[in-house]
Amino acid sequence: MDWGLKNRLSSIIKPHNNRALMLAVDHGYFLGPTERLENPKKVIAPLLKHCDSLMLTRGVQRTSVPAETDTPMVLRVSGGSSIIGDDLSQEDITVSIQDAIRLNASALAMSIFVGSKYEYQTVVNLGKLVSEAEQYGIPVLAVTAVGKELGKDARYLSLACRMAAEQGAHIVKTYYCDNFEKVVESCPVPIIVAGGKKIPERDALQLTYNAVKAGAVGVDMGRNIWQSDHPVAMIRATRAIIHQNANVDQAFKLYKKLANEDSNKKQKSKGKKPNQNKSKGKNPNQNKTKGKKPNQNKSKGKNPNQNKTKGKKPNQNKSNKPQNKPQPKKN
Ligand code: 5RP
Repeated sequence: MDWGLKNRLSSIIKPHNNRALMLAVDHGYFLGPTERLENPKKVIAPLLKHCDSLMLTRGVQRTSVPAETDTPMVLRVSGGSSIIGDDLSQEDITVSIQDAIRLNASALAMSIFVGSKYEYQTVVNLGKLVSEAEQYGIPVLAVTAVGKELGKDARYLSLACRMAAEQGAHIVKTYYCDNFEKVVESCPVPIIVAGGKKIPERDALQLTYNAVKAGAVGVDMGRNIWQSDHPVAMIRATRAIIHQNANVDQAFKLYKKLANEDSNKKQKSKGKKPNQNKSKGKNPNQNKTKGKKPNQNKSKGKNPNQNKTKGKKPNQNKSNKPQNKPQPKKN
């Protein structure tokens, strides 16, 4: 491996512990203004110092990230289809290598859609991208998006990850599943795990813990951080698992403490009395349901996007759910 490539890779996967915390904010490239990522600049600002690297598009990098940052950028260079279009798997390379270099990308990211209509196109594009990026010492992160009909089990994720590695990807991003060790064992390059749809904070921390325990280098997490009511608390708790070997109880305790401090700070700035640690021993989000009937708590344990899509036209749908057509999964 050339020095430049090794150097860039080591800024993403920390060599002292072989772990990585990547914050994903690239969702707008096919989802548009995803819920709670409507203003990327505001979302990124408080989180930037807590992640090892940031995964994003060139548009968001140029408009929403200060150029003075020393956080490495993982630049998404593929796209072309939207959540309401014909087929999400129809992606091409949309960013030139020259622009990626101008943006000082530490890695390039693109999706492959194994088992879908555009499998061939995306896998060939991956091979070409690796060949081009390696000329400049830039590593490539392959994002595996497996066709809906194939599911997300170890057998198919192993297939997609292994195919990405065989094309020369330097890191592969995939989903966590049962028997994840098998996926890791059969992939000769580091695996990083996507967070997926928003789930309760403790569950997302559990997913992180399980993934790392099974051999993933870490997570490339988006919605489970910035769709949390307390994004900084959530990224710091995730970080504790990845870099401080915290277990789930320890990480969740940290989340609750930081979330509580965050709530107090917000209340203070609104001129209200500080929260008297009402959430002690509880998920801080639970306080919000107080006094409501159980069925009024629409977001509990659900993807917060789900309720909002009801009765809306397709183009108003901010959720990450494909619209009735068979589509490759992107979550
Ligand atoms: C979309 C992506 C996202 O970056 C990825 O899914 C990670 O985000 P999340 O944790 O929200 O799933 O690559 O194709």
